[in-house]
Amino acid sequence: MSDIAKMNAAAAALEFVEDGMILGLGTGSTASHFVRMLGERVREGLRVGGLPTSEATRRLATQVGVPLIEIDQADRIDLTVDGADEIDPQFRLIKGGGGALLREKIIAHASDQMVVIADRGKLVDRLGAFPLPVEVTPFGFTITAKKVFDALRESGCEGADVHLREAGAPGRPFHSDGGNFILDCACAAIPDPEGLAERLNRIPGVVENGLFLAFPRTVRTVIVSDGEAIQILEGAEGH
Ligand code: A5P
Repeated sequence: MSDIAKMNAAAAALEFVEDGMILGLGTGSTASHFVRMLGERVREGLRVGGLPTSEATRRLATQVGVPLIEIDQADRIDLTVDGADEIDPQFRLIKGGGGALLREKIIAHASDQMVVIADRGKLVDRLGAFPLPVEVTPFGFTITAKKVFDALRESGCEGADVHLREAGAPGRPFHSDGGNFILDCACAAIPDPEGLAERLNRIPGVVENGLFLAFPRTVRTVIVSDGEAIQILEGAEGH
């Protein structure tokens, strides 16, 4: 899908930003467009405090002049703008293709509103074609991977395949910003995302999973673009 679609979705998300807001800044190519555009607004006088969801976004935000605050100094997060790998009709998401799922989830979950920006190709009828990222501790990761595989099978994911994400050279594991590994879990479809998330969360070596289901106090809005038209899909509280 074209970069124009991602840029259009990012530009539409700027309309949700108000002066004085504390903003969660997402990770990935779509969220990067938003951060650059936000930088332009800041240069025009907009005042915001940014909370980056990754070290890559921290570097970009610094480069384009978005003022940052430390996560432990934020007494509220008004709005988080982030991309997604898949979005289903209930606004449930798969995230973590860029490996930032843990910080992304902590920040989105604590936000009053989450605006998801994406090209239209990210809309799916059912989650799961995109391999689900699961962040695990390096210690005991082969034991954890086996348990993750069992959890996938027990929650109805057929043909599950669990792969350690690599970076750079074959055999060299990717490290998240928190120093953890990522297991990419391929299966054709995830028939019960809530059940799977619950099972994954019970495994000791699992740090976080890339299923962004309903968050109790976060209004979720989805903005998609096909390169020309923009569609804003409003969510109910708790989605
Ligand atoms: C980063 O860890 C991810 O959750 C991204 O938000 C997701 O992979 C979308 O990235 P793109 O905007 O690059 O498609």
